[in-house]
Amino acid sequence: MKNTITTFRKAKAEGKKLSMLTAYDYPTAKLIDAAGVNSILVGDSLGNAVLGYPDTLSVTMEDMIHHGKAVARGTKNALLVVDMPFMSYQASVYDALVNAGRLVKEAGANAVKLEGGQSVCPQIKAIVEAGIPVMAHLGMTPQSVNAFGGFKAQGKDEKTARKLLSDMAAVQEAGAFAVVLECVPAKLAQLCTERFEIFTIGIGSGNGCDGQVLVCQDMLGIYSDFTPKFVKKFACLAETMREAFTAYHDQVQSGGFPAGEHTFSIPDDLIERL
Ligand code: KIV
Repeated sequence: MKNTITTFRKAKAEGKKLSMLTAYDYPTAKLIDAAGVNSILVGDSLGNAVLGYPDTLSVTMEDMIHHGKAVARGTKNALLVVDMPFMSYQASVYDALVNAGRLVKEAGANAVKLEGGQSVCPQIKAIVEAGIPVMAHLGMTPQSVNAFGGFKAQGKDEKTARKLLSDMAAVQEAGAFAVVLECVPAKLAQLCTERFEIFTIGIGSGNGCDGQVLVCQDMLGIYSDFTPKFVKKFACLAETMREAFTAYHDQVQSGGFPAGEHTFSIPDDLIERL
């Protein structure tokens, strides 16, 4: 069954938790989808997790569309959300509308995600009015890494906790169907979840949220440049991959690969005539 924004509304009403993972390519999307994960996010974490940038700021609309298309081809049942990259929506409502439309028409997104609270509510409202579901993103919003002075938990003091609550009210009022809460103290994220009707998706924000999201490369143990405190490694694929690459290299050098079963045959008499 295809997950839609109705799935999210119903899950909130019934107190059912939903899962989300990021993906950036076709085979990974296919595996995540087949596992029954409710939503796939083509996150702009693409910048760090796949493209090797130190942050998400360099990611472009073209990057998001290229990877979004690949993920869409592997996604059947999960709700496909594609991130709006840095400066694709901040400058104007017009930019936001045009770029959200491109993510739906060109990448195949079912919904778009953008970072920020009150300041981007005109954009959220316009995109929703155009018929495109919007997922908001509050707390530690990576596109504001320079404004935060680093990747730091948000909402730990009264001023920033109150700001988070007012941003929650604003994005809900603007029409977002869900909100990612990143690196928010667990009790504050739970308060947001209980106080508001909007579906909350936590990352580094405790288990009081309505759902959870993780970056696929982090939870598979592939990305090793930096592992945030909140990541649980459900596998250690870096080790498995390293062993496989080394075995391949050794077998090519020793002549052990390819073996007979990996090669095509030709009749001996034909080869002699040649
Ligand atoms: O870009 C991303 O992967 C995200 C998640 C961390 C929620 O925004």
